Amino acid sequence: MKKIIAVDGPAGAGKSTVSKICAARLGYTYIDTGAMYRAVALKVLQSGKNLDENLLKDIEIRLDAFGKVFLDGRDVTKEIRTPEVSRGASDVAKFGFVRKKLTELQRDMAKSGKVIMDGRDIGTQVLPNADLKIFLTASVDERARRRFEELKSKNFAADLEQIKKEITLRDKQDSEREIAPLAQAPDAILIDSTNMTIEEVVLEILRLAK
Ligand code: CDP
Repeated sequence: MKKIIAVDGPAGAGKSTVSKICAARLGYTYIDTGAMYRAVALKVLQSGKNLDENLLKDIEIRLDAFGKVFLDGRDVTKEIRTPEVSRGASDVAKFGFVRKKLTELQRDMAKSGKVIMDGRDIGTQVLPNADLKIFLTASVDERARRRFEELKSKNFAADLEQIKKEITLRDKQDSEREIAPLAQAPDAILIDSTNMTIEEVVLEILRLAK
């Protein structure tokens, strides 16, 4: 069984949904690195200060076993899912000092193995020696539709066209940044989930993990 699994891909491809289910079935730990960039963005937004190394010096980001996200000891699980924080996460993710800090934390979290980590640069930068690398994608229309349903189910106001614009912009920003851009690692396996159910994607990843 592959001990370290990296899942990368653009916004709304279903990375966190399928990674969570795969982790539960394999008895692995799921690590949502996007939540960590979101937590940094929330800290910047709420502090009213500029993002600098000082702001990150004693930041505390914790992911618990139930998918909760804690920022400086406070549960921010719901707050980090707003479109404002999504935009902010992509903005803070451009900075080398932010990536360095979070990459160190992420490598440390993966140290003991039996992990599925999802993000944008896991197979390329964070865990280049992962035993299995997946690049999960879907058409932009399908990804926008999924994000729309997700936001609605969480009782956030959502507009499909607006979401489509935002994820297109974020994908562009994530793919074109200089440091650790969103990219498929040469040894990653591409899964296009546009016409696949969640269960089909999960079964494909579990098959590859064997
Ligand atoms: O859930 P969604 O795919 O919309 O986004 P996310 O995985 O929560 O990530 C939010 C943002 O954090 C992304 O748009 C990236 O800019 C950034 N990110 C990153 O740069 N590197 C990662 N490993 C994970 C996220």
